[in-house]
Amino acid sequence: MLSHEDNMLMCDVGPGTPMNAMMKRYWLPALPTAVVGAPDHDPVRVTLLGEDYVVFRDSNGKIGFLNERCCHRGASLCLGRVEEGGIRCIYHGWKFDTRGVVTEMPNATDEKHRTRYRQPAYPVREAANVVWVYLGPAEHEPPFPNYPVFDLPSDRVVVQEVYIDANYAQVMEGLVDSSHVGVLHQDAIRSRVAATIEEGREDIINKQMADELAPKLEVEDTDFGYNVAALRTVQFKGNSFEIARITAFALPFINFPGSNTTMIAGVPERNGLTRMIEWNWDWKRPIPPENREKVLYSHGISDEILDARGMTRKTYGKVERPNANNRYLQDRASMHHGSFTGLPLFHPEDAAVSVSQGEICDRRTQCLLPADLAVVRMRRVLLDSVRLVMRGEAPLGVESRQVPRALQGIVNPGASWQQVFDHTINWTRSINEISKHLFDEV
Ligand code: FES
Ligand SMILES: [Fe+2]
Repeated sequence: MLSHEDNMLMCDVGPGTPMNAMMKRYWLPALPTAVVGAPDHDPVRVTLLGEDYVVFRDSNGKIGFLNERCCHRGASLCLGRVEEGGIRCIYHGWKFDTRGVVTEMPNATDEKHRTRYRQPAYPVREAANVVWVYLGPAEHEPPFPNYPVFDLPSDRVVVQEVYIDANYAQVMEGLVDSSHVGVLHQDAIRSRVAATIEEGREDIINKQMADELAPKLEVEDTDFGYNVAALRTVQFKGNSFEIARITAFALPFINFPGSNTTMIAGVPERNGLTRMIEWNWDWKRPIPPENREKVLYSHGISDEILDARGMTRKTYGKVERPNANNRYLQDRASMHHGSFTGLPLFHPEDAAVSVSQGEICDRRTQCLLPADLAVVRMRRVLLDSVRLVMRGEAPLGVESRQVPRALQGIVNPGASWQQVFDHTINWTRSINEISKHLFDEV
């Protein structure tokens, strides 16, 4: 349970709120670099935390991340022309470089006017095929975070954006909550298990996830946020083993789910709209462009499925999206023919339940269980962090050099699940690969 005040403290990211100030203290993933395009490509409008920005790549390849409204009289710079090292407002022709410096001011003859004004501009980095931005006070700019996907060449990483009409905290709660996986996503998990049986082996780990709906959860705070271990018992060759499946949450809104080849950010565009950014990667080899859709499909975020539901940059606002009036685009007929949810697998299922909770769900009357431990911890670290900023201190995790990781392993009898980290020598394996070989030495 969460009081109305704490709920709004956590969920309200709009301008002037404590959560807005807290989130601006981190490096935030803003949009895929592919959307920004080549030098002098058309400018792109981006909304973060209820505020609008324009992003462009200048003639030299440098990215500019500026407030959208021109500092002269507020016309949108998204209408502007990106040309010869900057962006020009089409209203009176003021031109700004990537630092926001006014380089031309055609409607002023006195040079002093040009040097007096500046368009607010923000530091950016390009990492893992995404533009990251720091929107906070310059004196508090933190070191750039340390996420595993940053070590990979860009051709091994695919990025997708998913628009969900729900507050970021709801979307993130769904991502850290392991107890829904074997229910909401049961069709997907069972079909994965069936596929491995066809390959001549049985994926006992995924089977166990589908069968054991109440794993023991244990949570541990870390520098970046927290780790959560789901502990399940599996039978192998007549013996029982305890398996820990460890996932991570990094402040302010990044999740490292079980696969160890995925990172997901619940980017708040505004209170009632999350633009999830999901990275999927191959540790060892490039993912050719023609395989993109296949990779996305296996994670439930294919262009085709999301486009048809208005959940991508291309179709958001142009195509009917899941909402209460259309029953979240659920196909009831398919539920009579084997589908558990009547929805396309994974993210459309997650999106439907998140949107159905309301734009900002009321957490005063929820009936929580030990199964909600990771959800409760997420709320706690977010609230702890925002309260630190309200007191004038640094938020949690901005200086963290610890690397968040998803991991899976056998817990030795009498040992703690944390020891799985100590036994791990090769971090660059997917969980599927680890599952395949988990019992090799047994
Ligand atoms: S409003 Fe942009 S130059 Fe006047
Ligand atoms: Fe889910």
